[in-house]
Amino acid sequence: MCGIVGYIGKRQATPILISGLRRLEYRGYDSAGVAVHNGESSRVVRCCGKLSNLEQKLALEPVPGMLGIGHTRWATHGKPSDENAHPHKAGGVSVVHNGIIENHVALRNELEEEGVTFSSDTDTEIFAHLIHREMRGGAEALARGVQQVLRKVQGAYAIVVMDDADPSTLVAAKSASPLVIGLGDGENYVASDVTAILDETRDMIFVEEQELATVRPSGVHITDLDGNPVERAPRRINWSVVQAEKQGYRHFMQKEIFEQPRAVADTLAGRLDRERGDVKLDGIDLDVRSIRRVVFVACGTSYHASLIGKFLVESLARIPTEVDLASEFRYRDPLIGSGDLVIGISQSGETADTMAAMKMAREKGATLLAVSNVLESSIPRMADHAFYTHAGPEIGVASTKAFVTQLASLVLIAAYLGRRSGALDRGRGDELLGELAELPKKMSDVIEHSAQLQVIARRYGGAKGFLFLGRGNQYPIALEGALKLKEISYIHAEGYAAGEMKHGPIALIDETMPVIVIAPRGAHYEKVISNLTEVRARDGKIVAIATRGDTEIGSAADEVVMVPTAAPEILPLLTALPLQLLAYYVAVSKGTDIDQPRNLAKSVTVE
Ligand code: G6P
Repeated sequence: MCGIVGYIGKRQATPILISGLRRLEYRGYDSAGVAVHNGESSRVVRCCGKLSNLEQKLALEPVPGMLGIGHTRWATHGKPSDENAHPHKAGGVSVVHNGIIENHVALRNELEEEGVTFSSDTDTEIFAHLIHREMRGGAEALARGVQQVLRKVQGAYAIVVMDDADPSTLVAAKSASPLVIGLGDGENYVASDVTAILDETRDMIFVEEQELATVRPSGVHITDLDGNPVERAPRRINWSVVQAEKQGYRHFMQKEIFEQPRAVADTLAGRLDRERGDVKLDGIDLDVRSIRRVVFVACGTSYHASLIGKFLVESLARIPTEVDLASEFRYRDPLIGSGDLVIGISQSGETADTMAAMKMAREKGATLLAVSNVLESSIPRMADHAFYTHAGPEIGVASTKAFVTQLASLVLIAAYLGRRSGALDRGRGDELLGELAELPKKMSDVIEHSAQLQVIARRYGGAKGFLFLGRGNQYPIALEGALKLKEISYIHAEGYAAGEMKHGPIALIDETMPVIVIAPRGAHYEKVISNLTEVRARDGKIVAIATRGDTEIGSAADEVVMVPTAAPEILPLLTALPLQLLAYYVAVSKGTDIDQPRNLAKSVTVE
């Protein structure tokens, strides 16, 4: 999510750090900073806003030295501000961090009880204090101190640490966030992304899960977290910078589809309270028993997520729920007032219609909850409560990982409401949390079978139109599947509630029409199969998205894409994936501009 660069060697660190951070700008950021060691002590310079702000600050107060770490931040814990910008320093220990520490509340409490005062709202500052405590306690080397601390930390991290007391060493470690070491001659580099250091070196060592690297000008020593040495040969990277930004993927959209298991794991991180069968939602403190009705407002893909939100809130919390397009809601004088919880969903947090709809709801006395991917963007700022999806920057205009993380967020929010409305008991709550915990693995399973969608895309990609059908909470997935295909391949596609097919779209069906039917095993299965038979009888070509173990569906469909089984609340997060992949591969075969489709914008800040 954020970007990290580190340098140790024989040249001035600051220009190398800044040029590396500049390479990471494409990820989006809200603040930046460096810590540089001049051989005697280190100094931190950091500030909110673009990297150019940091450069201006550094021009006024240069930090000379040949050892340094730098960071660009995409805020998760703590709003973008000078204080929350990295590096964080405690005693002589400076730290930059990507990822999310799940047990940050417990660790922070522990440190505060010992008298530590925090100067930021970040989870990262905890690392600095804990490592400083270890060093003060006599850890014989920085690597040892970091090792001890990592044993206590749960969550995702790539960290780079330096200590004033040892200007010859950088220590870096990784768990679930990328980390790479670049090799030079008498100098070495550390980065979260290959891109950041590609101008300096092409010889890289990729740090693996739960490994720690001690980086000195003369060499790199990698160990596991118990200190056992790990041998790893460097790789020569021949990617261009543009290829590297996409981490070897052809398009940002492809990268974003493939990184969804990680993105959802980040959404869930620290929010599942298995002991209580409940969720922990920082930033949300609702009087749930006073909520009469929930009303979702959103646009585009976020609207489709809202439609699924209605199923979730009604089934898990038993609170009546409506969904409206923000652009419709704001102009129809809706009946809204106190007792209504209006949930605005917006990836960017800046969509003009969603913002106006929420503003109107506030004027009429409703309580506002925002679900957004961008910390401190306008919509969460104006809301009474804010929930962040933590998907990381989404660059492809067609939304993928933002959508799926919105769905995961809505399961959490509905469970939160359900536990407090009394509709969701602890046992069922815990089952659901168990399902969520399993979800990233199941998503990876679907994505690993992407080659099948490539074949299907080749087979049907020449069609003039597609129909997508689903029932219940798979109906919004049909809408989203059709939207994805339209957006990036420019092929007309319609999403329909399967039961409505006979009221119109059936007239379109002939042997040239591919029909994508979402048919997981569950409450609506038999009904969907009968819709599928109607399509078949008219020679339509059927691609069924089904659940593994279904042996019947093969005889009724031309192609079957299997996804793992899951609870009905969770299944949309799995069935959405083949549809994204289908749209992507059709667009690839048509050669369209996938990341920036014609006429579309990532963020629509005007009406
Ligand atoms: C634009 C984007 C869509 C997005 C919609 C709503 O149309 O191209 O991908 O779904 O805006 O954006 P939001 O940021 O509010 O979710």
